[in-house]
Amino acid sequence: MNSHSQRKHDHVSICLQPDIEHKVSSGFDAYTFMHNALPELNYDEIDLSIQLFGRTFNLPLFISGMTGGYKGAMDINAALAEVCCELSIPLVLGSQRSMLQDQYSASTFTVAREKGSDICISANIGATEIAQSSNHDGIIRIIDTINADWITIHANPLQELFQPEGNTDFRGVLKGIEDCRKRIQIPMIVKEVGSGISLDLTKRLHDIGIDGIDVAGKGGTSWSAVEMKRNENENSDYFKEWGMETSDCLISLREFCENNNMTLLSSGGIRNAHDIAMSVAMGAKSVGMARPILIAYHEGGIQQVKMLIERFMKDVQRIMFLTGSKNCKDLSIVQYTKNQRN
Ligand SMILES: Cc1cc2nc3c(=O)[nH]c(=O)nc-3n(C[C@H](O)[C@H](O)[C@H](O)COP(=O)(O)O)c2cc1C
Repeated sequence: MNSHSQRKHDHVSICLQPDIEHKVSSGFDAYTFMHNALPELNYDEIDLSIQLFGRTFNLPLFISGMTGGYKGAMDINAALAEVCCELSIPLVLGSQRSMLQDQYSASTFTVAREKGSDICISANIGATEIAQSSNHDGIIRIIDTINADWITIHANPLQELFQPEGNTDFRGVLKGIEDCRKRIQIPMIVKEVGSGISLDLTKRLHDIGIDGIDVAGKGGTSWSAVEMKRNENENSDYFKEWGMETSDCLISLREFCENNNMTLLSSGGIRNAHDIAMSVAMGAKSVGMARPILIAYHEGGIQQVKMLIERFMKDVQRIMFLTGSKNCKDLSIVQYTKNQRN
């Protein structure tokens, strides 16, 4: 295994262990939906479908980027693609950085596309890889090889700081993304990996042509905690808890994204139906999960992942009934209040 493959392997095995999540939640549990005692709708007619970049999906959910680039990742990506195909939800692949160096790893990503030509698949690459790519031919290749529907660029300075082999030279990332944007036809999204994205950065990303933000905020997997498990010289509770909660990010980005036609996505610590429904109520078009999906797959394969998603979505449908929301658009404007008792 080369060092990149080894790292991706380590990430999956560490993410199956305990004690790698933020101590605080993503913040959605601090809010309560306004209950509608007389919802004028039939529960069975509630529509959970959403539109994203011109496509329709059955549920306001996607699987966040996780893996690729080593042998075991092939099985995971094949299984997750199968789930996404059956449920009609998007799959974001893990970082395709390894594909920039060796074509061997391509099959660990293309295996997802082989599960169906109509699955919606996002390519995934780091902001620093884009900055360091001189002509972006490699980026175009990773998109074309999997016939990606959009590309997700991950911004992960905290993770890189604590990764033993991390790259902490972030100079030129915005310019790199801007140049790359000019060469790429499909939508481009920028995401964090658990520390959140600010309004200021969102405005700058809008100015350089980015189509969407996945806030990937704090409240779930802590990537500094994951890297500290790989780096015995580092152990800092302060940095394990660094970041902005997912709910706070959504609240601060919503108005700007709506006014500027930017797609807002929620992820980072999404752990139950309330987090999903509240994300939509706070303006997210769709909602992503990573570690809970990996754990479900590890425990019971494809069936367990499907069961997890179906259970969550059944409860989202119940929340929609109780808030009088016939569809996700209605849910996006329901009222909620901040809990007083804490
Ligand atoms: C095993 C694992 C590997 C990950 N690898 C990537 C990656 O390659 N690229 C990326 O953008 N995010 C990656 N992430 C981060 C997730 O996409 C997500 O932003 C983060 O884990 C927070 O979501 P969660 O709390 O639902 O896990 C990974 C997450 C997990 C659990």
